[in-house]
Amino acid sequence: MDFKEVVKNRYSCKKYSGRQVEFDKLDAILNAGRLAPTAKNLQEQHIYVIQSNETLAKIDSLTPCRYGAPTVIVVAYNKENVYTYPGEKYSSGIEDATIVATHMLLAATNENVDSCWVNFFDPDKLAKILELPQNEEVIMLLDLGYAAEGACPLSNHFSRKPLIDTVTYL
Ligand SMILES: Cc1cc2nc3c(=O)[nH]c(=O)nc-3n(C[C@H](O)[C@H](O)[C@H](O)COP(=O)(O)O)c2cc1C
Repeated sequence: MDFKEVVKNRYSCKKYSGRQVEFDKLDAILNAGRLAPTAKNLQEQHIYVIQSNETLAKIDSLTPCRYGAPTVIVVAYNKENVYTYPGEKYSSGIEDATIVATHMLLAATNENVDSCWVNFFDPDKLAKILELPQNEEVIMLLDLGYAAEGACPLSNHFSRKPLIDTVTYL
C-alpha cells in the first residue's frame, strides 16, 4: 500500500470478527517493529504475541478494550537497557517502545489488518498476570484482527485539528 494510503486508512477498530491474523501478515507486522529506530540502537523492546484463549482471557480481566481481537501484542521494554539523555530528565525506554509500536500499527494497516492501540489497563497488573520479568515495563497493547461486519471508525476519527493549531514555524 502507498504510505499515504496507510496513514489515511488506519483507524482504531473497536469490534473484531473471529478471523485470526495470518502468520505471514503477523510476521510482516513484527518485522516492521524490529526495524524501528531506537536510541543508540539499543532495541530494548520486548514484544509478546498473545493468541491463546487462556491468555486472551487474562487480558480481558484487565481491560474492556480487546474488542474481540484474536491477537493482542504486548509491547514492553527492558528498564535496565535504556539510554538516559543529557540532563537526566528522560530515558529512551518509553519512546523507543512507542516507535516500535507505531511501526507495527502502521504495518498492520499495510497488511489490511485492523488494529487498536490500547492503554486503558494497569501495566503493573498486566505484567504480573502475564508473569513478565521484573526488569520489563509494559507500555501498550495492540489489538490485531479483522473488523466485524458493520464495524467502522468512531466519529472522532474524522476530527483532526488543522496544522495551524499544532504547527509553528519559528
Ligand atoms: C496512546 C493511545 C492510547 C489509546 N488507548 C486506547 C484505549 O485504551 N482504548 C481504546 O479503545 N482506544 C484507545 N486508543 C485509540 C484512540 O482512542 C484513537 O486513536 C483516537 O480516538 C483517534 O481515533 P482513530 O485512531 O480511529 O483515528 C488509544 C490511542 C492512543 C494513540
